[in-house]
Amino acid sequence: MWGCVLSDACIEALLKRRSVRVFKDAEVPLDMILKAIEVARYAPSAGNKQPWRFVIIREGEKLKDLAKILRYSRPLMNAKVAVMVLANKDESPTSYMVDASLAAMYFWLALHCIGGSALVSLPHFCSPASRSGFHRAWGRSGPPQRPHILSI
Ligand SMILES: Cc1cc2nc3c(=O)[nH]c(=O)nc-3n(C[C@H](O)[C@H](O)[C@H](O)COP(=O)(O)O)c2cc1C
Repeated sequence: MWGCVLSDACIEALLKRRSVRVFKDAEVPLDMILKAIEVARYAPSAGNKQPWRFVIIREGEKLKDLAKILRYSRPLMNAKVAVMVLANKDESPTSYMVDASLAAMYFWLALHCIGGSALVSLPHFCSPASRSGFHRAWGRSGPPQRPHILSI
């Protein structure tokens, strides 16, 4: 109607994205994750600062630890991959959370478009006790404190 041949497919993709909490017992190709991250890098950001980082977690034990520790992230228990989105305050003090949220959304949508399913969860919603468990599970060096962990 507005002269864009892709509009139907784009709108359909947006409408069909759902939060998925039960995952197939199948390996997730690393290429798929990297493709979605590549797309996420094109998200808009204030001053084009791109104050985000992506951390791919594929170790089964670490995923299970995260599932136990983060109150609303039980689905990680049967996930093959988690992607942590970090927001770097140092790189964009006034806009890092908005910018990294947009990149996370781009990542989520790209993954959906190429056949992946995902759930978004916010680690800073967990209790202080859970948070210290989260730090322990990450390993001796602890999780990245900076940049700020925005979502998993
Ligand atoms: C910032 C954010 C945090 C979320 N955290 C969780 C979570 O911890 N656990 C969960 O099961 N769903 C979580 N969700 C998914 C929402 O529950 C979901 O997006 C909402 O119910 C709408 O469903 P839909 O995404 O399938 O359209 C989160 C979504 C967002 C945007």
